[in-house]
Amino acid sequence: MSDAARSRSKATLPLPAPSDRFDVPRHVAIIMDGNGRWAAARGLPRVEGHRRGVEALRRTVRAAADLGISVLTIFSFSSENWSRPLAEINDLLGLLRRFIRNDLADLHRSNVRVRIIGERDDLDRDILLLLQEAEDLTRGNDGLTLVVAFNYGARQEIAHAARRVAIEVAQGRLAVDDVSAELLARYFHAPDIPDPDVIIRTSGEQRLSNFLLWQAAYSELVFVPINWPDFDRAALEGVIAEYRRRERRFGGLIAQTGS
Ligand code: IPE
Ligand code: IPE
Ligand code: MG
Repeated sequence: MSDAARSRSKATLPLPAPSDRFDVPRHVAIIMDGNGRWAAARGLPRVEGHRRGVEALRRTVRAAADLGISVLTIFSFSSENWSRPLAEINDLLGLLRRFIRNDLADLHRSNVRVRIIGERDDLDRDILLLLQEAEDLTRGNDGLTLVVAFNYGARQEIAHAARRVAIEVAQGRLAVDDVSAELLARYFHAPDIPDPDVIIRTSGEQRLSNFLLWQAAYSELVFVPINWPDFDRAALEGVIAEYRRRERRFGGLIAQTGS
């Protein structure tokens, strides 16, 4: 193509409409951090921060559904959180139980599908049954997918997948040459869920703390300086605005749209 032809074809390229160019992220994942600091700043016990954190979660689920986000993943309890004092663990488990008991019917009415990721072996039986109930009741819903990461650790998820692949190879159902990044990821907790477009961490900490390490390969990371109990729709909109300013390249070159 001559230079003149190239500049003509460039001039006639239609500019994408703002809604095409600045789409909402399909999958948003959140490390809900800072409940304890929120409480400490007010002279309250840590559990009060966790209680207010549940309210922030309710607001955020509603806002995510309204804004057209398809998948919202929340980090509710990490594999390492078992190292906290027993009283705090019991508070957190109690809030999870209460959240499912009180909110499941509402979530279902709102067409939310609940999925759980994390290690389920060794969980208290009543928690296990509640998690299963949430998944079973909402299985047919096709609105927002709410992925709850509970007793979740990314290294554990990857090791678990590796163990299952090793068993397949040992038993002759897979060959060593079949093992690829794509194949390993099929053995994760929710292999059908696309990788997060954006991972948010509240509280100002800037680390992933063993959350979705594999899936975060090309996620945009947004660190928000407020504690989780203060998170709301405006904060989520702020993150989406920031996401739209990012340039995602996936190792390639940015698409030439109208410039
Ligand atoms: C997040 O808040 C909730 C969980 C980890 C379950 P934190 O409890 O970590 O609050 P900070 O980080 O101590 O302020
Ligand atoms: C990560 O926060 C886990 C959850 C939000 C559930 P933590 O507060 O446990 O992480 P660290 O210890 O500060 O890295
Ligand atoms: Mg924390």
